[in-house]
Amino acid sequence: MTQVTLIKGDGIGPEISEAVVDIIEAAGVNIEWDIQTAGADVAELEGTPLPKRVIDSIKRNKVALKAPITTPIGKGFRSVNVQLRKELDLYANLRPCKNIPTVKTKFDNVDIVVVRENTEDLYAGIEEKPDENTAKSIKIITRDASIRIAEFAFDYAVKNSRKEVCVVTKANICKLSDGLFLECAREVAKKYPQINFREILVDNCCMQLVQKPEQFDVLLLPNLYGDIVSDLTAGLIGGLGVAQSANIGLQASVFEAVHGSAPDIKGQDKANPMALLLSACEMLNFIGENKAAEKIKTALYKTLESGIKTADLGGTAKCSEFTNQIIKNLGGING
Ligand code: NAI
Repeated sequence: MTQVTLIKGDGIGPEISEAVVDIIEAAGVNIEWDIQTAGADVAELEGTPLPKRVIDSIKRNKVALKAPITTPIGKGFRSVNVQLRKELDLYANLRPCKNIPTVKTKFDNVDIVVVRENTEDLYAGIEEKPDENTAKSIKIITRDASIRIAEFAFDYAVKNSRKEVCVVTKANICKLSDGLFLECAREVAKKYPQINFREILVDNCCMQLVQKPEQFDVLLLPNLYGDIVSDLTAGLIGGLGVAQSANIGLQASVFEAVHGSAPDIKGQDKANPMALLLSACEMLNFIGENKAAEKIKTALYKTLESGIKTADLGGTAKCSEFTNQIIKNLGGING
């Protein structure tokens, strides 16, 4: 039996993670969930929102499924999500964005993979207020981290038969920091002559994405632009309720949805569990349960085709109804 760390998170986290665990169990996958808690409630009890036991559990199991965790805005503890990525050196954030059958959007030809550097940039959390009216935030970009994320993007492109890697920066303004990221991408690109290499500034990239998304293949970005642009690409395929993500490192990988804890719909049985479910399917592929992952996706698409959708996709189904229908549909699939 495979052991997987499960972090149920907060906000809509517990609702959607329970839905996903039920679906995985119904698909016949034998996983022993090592349940770990983190976040604001844990900080009150244990003095830290990310206790060492959580890190130890993920290191031991090498794989985790994580629901979203709320980060206080403008004050309070540092994001648990960012800390986790840093502590486990989950250097690559992979966010594939492809049209989903029956989820109607403005475009029907989106197939973009966002590769986001996951450990530095403004997320280093080095901020100070030298006086009451001034705030400084330090943006860290290093050669080592930039080279390894560029290599990850090009390796991904080769392994997945993609044609192009497009590096996205603001190197005209942040000449040293984004300049270094760009320089590293150019250097790595030379080792992959079979993959087309393209450069674009992040502002132009956003405009192009909402006008002609079909022109993009693999996007390679530093941490902050990757965070923002991947919400934009999520919007192209139906919104945050359907966008999956994986944080990949050499010692462990953590699979989670792109979205946050959605406090506005918490506890109302309204959340779409699909983003976490698709992330979990990638996790199943990662642990060798490819057949189960395919089976779950087939049941999910069958559910959508029958018109059962959550509110974010224009439907009326509750999270629980949507989940139960997926489980029901699993029953009719062989394999
Ligand atoms: P959010 O992603 O939680 O929500 C944005 C909008 O999308 C809201 O209207 C929400 O209702 C909707 N939405 C999100 N997921 C949905 C789902 N599965 N089904 C239906 N609708 C969904 O972003 P927001 O409000 O900016 O952040 C809330 C909290 O989440 C913040 O504390 C933030 O720091 C945290 N966060 C955590 C992340 C993580 O744990 N990896 C990632 C992003 C944000």
